[in-house]
Amino acid sequence: MAEDNLRYLNHMLNEAKQGGGEDAIARQHEKGKQTARERLTKLLDANSFQELHALVTHHATDFGLADKTPLGDGVVTGWGTIGGRLVYVFAQDFTVMGGSLGAAHAAKIIKVQELALKTGSPLIGINDSGGARIQEGIQSLGGYAGIFLNNTLASGVIPQISVIMGPCAGGAVYSPALTDFVFMVEGTSNMFITGPQVVKAVTQEDVTFDQLGGAAVHTGKSGVAHFIAANEDECLAQVRKLVGYLPSNNLEDAPLVAVKEENTPDGAALNSLVPPSANEPYDMLKVIDLIVDKGSFFEVQKAIAGNILVGFARLDGTVVGIVANQPAVKAGALDIDASVKAARFVRFCDAFNIPLVTLVDVPGFMPGVAQEHGGIIRQGAKLIYAYCEATIPKLTVITRKAYGGAYIVMSSKEIRGDLNVAWPSAEIAVMGPEGAVNIIYRDQIDKSADPAALKAQLISEYQERFASPYMAASYGAIDAVIEPSQTRAVLINGLRMLVNKRESNPAKKHGTMPL
Ligand code: HXC
Repeated sequence: MAEDNLRYLNHMLNEAKQGGGEDAIARQHEKGKQTARERLTKLLDANSFQELHALVTHHATDFGLADKTPLGDGVVTGWGTIGGRLVYVFAQDFTVMGGSLGAAHAAKIIKVQELALKTGSPLIGINDSGGARIQEGIQSLGGYAGIFLNNTLASGVIPQISVIMGPCAGGAVYSPALTDFVFMVEGTSNMFITGPQVVKAVTQEDVTFDQLGGAAVHTGKSGVAHFIAANEDECLAQVRKLVGYLPSNNLEDAPLVAVKEENTPDGAALNSLVPPSANEPYDMLKVIDLIVDKGSFFEVQKAIAGNILVGFARLDGTVVGIVANQPAVKAGALDIDASVKAARFVRFCDAFNIPLVTLVDVPGFMPGVAQEHGGIIRQGAKLIYAYCEATIPKLTVITRKAYGGAYIVMSSKEIRGDLNVAWPSAEIAVMGPEGAVNIIYRDQIDKSADPAALKAQLISEYQERFASPYMAASYGAIDAVIEPSQTRAVLINGLRMLVNKRESNPAKKHGTMPL
């Protein structure tokens, strides 16, 4: 009898592992996609996966579903480890009824969300689904609602990561959209509210799945996704890497990594990195690489708003969030996309105790009708709001331009920057020399016998007086002017000084940030 029991159990578990069966798995592989279980094997540490609810079935009966009750109901859930640290996972199985979501499928996801939330570990969801299971109607919609609710409740408590590895359509897109980081795979993943056929019917636009909601569109244009990978294996490796930078929850610190001597960059080249002319670009990525632990900068949202760089890095093993203007793209000006990209990143770091290092070279907010009409005022305010409310350690380095409102936004002393330093090449002023002279000396220049010569002279005078860090230093708006090569040491020291920082905002239900 005992033997029969065991045989039956193994038969059931084996059946659950077959997913949609050989043919459906072969079709999945033909598309360059893997099964839910294959993906989880690559995502998690070897032999660490513990499955939950493998024997769940749906209990729907309409439209012939009574005869179709696959074990597991099209989603594999459970927990495992990444780099030895606990994570919770769900992976939709497209080989089972197209990974469609009915009541039982949703309940499995909801249960694993709740476990992740109450035990305080990240949740990673792999999405590959035709959306709401049409045969289950409202039950499916209720299922999504429960998932969205948990996504929202878990926001800021545990890191939530969505990996799109197939279709993700209709209202289903809103679960990933509510999470912290979205990964997509080139060629095989799409996200859209309505597909190409509906688009054609409503707006008469002809568009393919990929043009409408492929990985390149969502990482480069809409900003819905944060990471793009050439294939599934590369994508899963990126997810593992990201998890290594994140704390398990909002009450813990990100993992500290011991730094080997050979991973300490030599910052000497920083002393000559900023070009003598204020209008000449340079690559802020080089600055980052010469400051942080070698090879540790992991860029987030690389494909959009290249005028601002955001990402995680380590400084003597401590995880920090980097926000840096990139003078090599649009002179580093803050536009709508850059403001929103950076605001979201700053809020993530603040929610999860990750200190922020801000590198500033910004000529101002981007001028233009499109920017004004697109709401640069409201969108830029998001970045101010994010920095102002952030209570984690905030360290700021002004490498060159810090003009006007953009100076204030980029973690200035006045909005609670904890340690603000500037390089000798810094120019901290209301605006650049030419613009300033044009405004305050317009009359004199117009009336002058030699306007060009007078203008050049006034610009040079302005530069001498304001285009330096020393005026700001004299008012205490920066804490120190430092030799660029010393930046890493100053920041590491600053992080140690701030390790016990405690700061809180006035008690409230929540703010009303300008969304
Ligand atoms: C039930 C579904 C399904 C669904 C796919 N299947 N989507 N079953 N409900 N939503 C089933 C198919 O019937 C098929 O079953 C199997 O999954 C594989 O699907 P195929 O169509 O053969 O695969 P493929 O050709 O690769 O096309 C994939 C697809 C297509 C583009 C995703 O299946 C599709 O368009 N599905 C419907 C998408 C959709 O409109 N969903 C509703 C979105 S609205 P068999 O038995 O033949 O293998 C929504 C609302 C959520 O989700 C609201 C939340 C608030």
